[in-house]
Amino acid sequence: MAGITASDADVVALLMRQHGDIRNLFDEVERTGGDERRAAFRRLVHLLAVHETAEEEVVHPFTRASVPDGGKIVDDRLAEEREAKEVLSRLDGMDPDDPKFLPGLLALRLDVMAHARAEERYEFNHIRRSADQARLASMATALRAAEAMAPTHPHPGTESAARNMALGPIAAVMDRTRDAVRKAMGKDG
Ligand SMILES: [Fe+2]
Ligand SMILES: [Fe+2]
Repeated sequence: MAGITASDADVVALLMRQHGDIRNLFDEVERTGGDERRAAFRRLVHLLAVHETAEEEVVHPFTRASVPDGGKIVDDRLAEEREAKEVLSRLDGMDPDDPKFLPGLLALRLDVMAHARAEERYEFNHIRRSADQARLASMATALRAAEAMAPTHPHPGTESAARNMALGPIAAVMDRTRDAVRKAMGKDG
């Protein structure tokens, strides 16, 4: 496949790296405070929105169609995602220096990381075994299009409240991600 290197086309490596980025952002939110914690938490929420939206568009449909028992596997993952979103929305309205914030964050972290492990075990392993290089490459392209929507690292000197506001409401982030992914997959937005 001209122009596409093995690592560019490795959708599973991209997904695993995003799981690692999510874990690192949880660490960062936990070890910081005040404005720094607020900013790290915004990036975490933003990355979770982008990552889960991309999985809903790219990974779960593949599993449903191509993995034995795929329907049940995806339904279980979606139930986990819904539960995590509920915990997240409770945290999202909270002051990160509130004493209840860190226990809530820990609950979210446990849910999100258990969900990520289940995906790696029941979905990603099957994707990697797939022999369809064209499909793997198109999924990787879609993942990269989604990732362009998520700033995972702080931008020194510009990490202001204004910049974080500019990330926009989460529903809008998910809409933009969905459009970018569908466009990259060659479907209408
Ligand atoms: Fe997920
Ligand atoms: Fe995931």
